[in-house]
Amino acid sequence: MTEFRWTTAGESHGPGLTVIVEGIPSGLNIDEDYIERQMARRQKGYGSGGRMKIEKDRAELRGGVRHGVTLGSPIAMWIENRDFANWTDAMSPNPVSDDLDKKSHTRIVPGHADFPGALKYLHHDVRNVLERASARETAARVAAASVARRLLEEFGITIHARAISTGAEKSPDINPADVNWDDVEASEVRAADSDSDARFKAAIDASKADRTTIGGVMEVVAFGAPVGLGSHVGWDRKLDARIAQAMMSINAVKGVEIGSGFANTARPGREVQDVIVPDPSDPRRFRQESNHAGGIEGGMSNGNPIVTHVAIKPIATMTRPLPSVDINTGEVIEAAYNRSDICQVARACPVAEGMLALVLAHAVLEKFGGDSLAEMKRNYDGYIQSHQEFGRPGGQVS
Ligand SMILES: Cc1cc2nc3c(=O)[nH]c(=O)nc-3n(C[C@H](O)[C@H](O)[C@H](O)COP(=O)(O)O)c2cc1C
Repeated sequence: MTEFRWTTAGESHGPGLTVIVEGIPSGLNIDEDYIERQMARRQKGYGSGGRMKIEKDRAELRGGVRHGVTLGSPIAMWIENRDFANWTDAMSPNPVSDDLDKKSHTRIVPGHADFPGALKYLHHDVRNVLERASARETAARVAAASVARRLLEEFGITIHARAISTGAEKSPDINPADVNWDDVEASEVRAADSDSDARFKAAIDASKADRTTIGGVMEVVAFGAPVGLGSHVGWDRKLDARIAQAMMSINAVKGVEIGSGFANTARPGREVQDVIVPDPSDPRRFRQESNHAGGIEGGMSNGNPIVTHVAIKPIATMTRPLPSVDINTGEVIEAAYNRSDICQVARACPVAEGMLALVLAHAVLEKFGGDSLAEMKRNYDGYIQSHQEFGRPGGQVS
């Protein structure tokens, strides 16, 4: 069995994005329409820039899938850039003559990757950095994550995300199990209730009028994960650590919390731990009545919903640019402005869902791995069965 790994390649205004996902077993149903539905969710959002109207993303399956079923070989996808016709010279992979417009730019944007990227890679044209640092790359992640999500569905694991704040506006606390996720899906700001929806939109409108940008916090939740994904035995196997890295890798994400991690610090320990009680329906089983830990203890899923909060900063590119410098001359100028979002929180939600899906798919493959989906399901069923026998008199778990 191939170890699960995935990667993306491609620049924002280049010919397109390439995605490779390895380690998915044979026998999983997946098709381009399913992937397109997931990718369309990344394109919706109040306060999104003009590019969303051009993109209409579709990932073409180019390898690893035959007649809508995975083969067990690497899955390759190609997402064509529908706007490339306007960038053929500027983003040509091949040399172009000097009299053509290469859309070079040198006015570094504070808060973007421009400054460290230009110095690290010795680029005098900042476009060489921003084209890859742009969140356009997250389209490729959502394509990869669609495959992960499809695999998780086979094991009853579903993932949702919503905005719990936008700028200074916060939504009321709602237990993730009580959120109406259809309402979230219908909201352009991915709010769970109509009052938050109106306040989040007003905050975006005010930010637009002020020619600035606002960030927010997302709640990303996985339901149905079995006990025991990840492990306490090594730092790099801990599920919470892996989720934190994955979330932090999303463009503009600057904070990650598992469960009520930050609020827990101000509460007495007796109120923070999730007390374990016997399940009245089956004395051999246990459950927890609260979920402050966000579904992970000791780096392992504990059977409760996995709950993460992800803080995303206001985006750096603004119609009223900050003062900055020219990377080559040192001249004081205004930072560059390229078509940009006012608030990307809603669009980042499917990306954050996708990153959680990719981490959980990896953990599910480690735990129940097999070359075919049927083999994985046998492993999964055997494991669940062993829990049912756990503690039963005479029911020895081997
Ligand atoms: C969905 C999404 C859309 C984004 N859109 C923009 C944008 O339009 N303009 C911009 O400057 N940054 C945007 N960003 C953020 C930048 O890509 C990010 O700030 C930049 O790569 C620098 O990295 P850092 O903020 O993680 O340090 C977006 C991020 C996400 C997740």
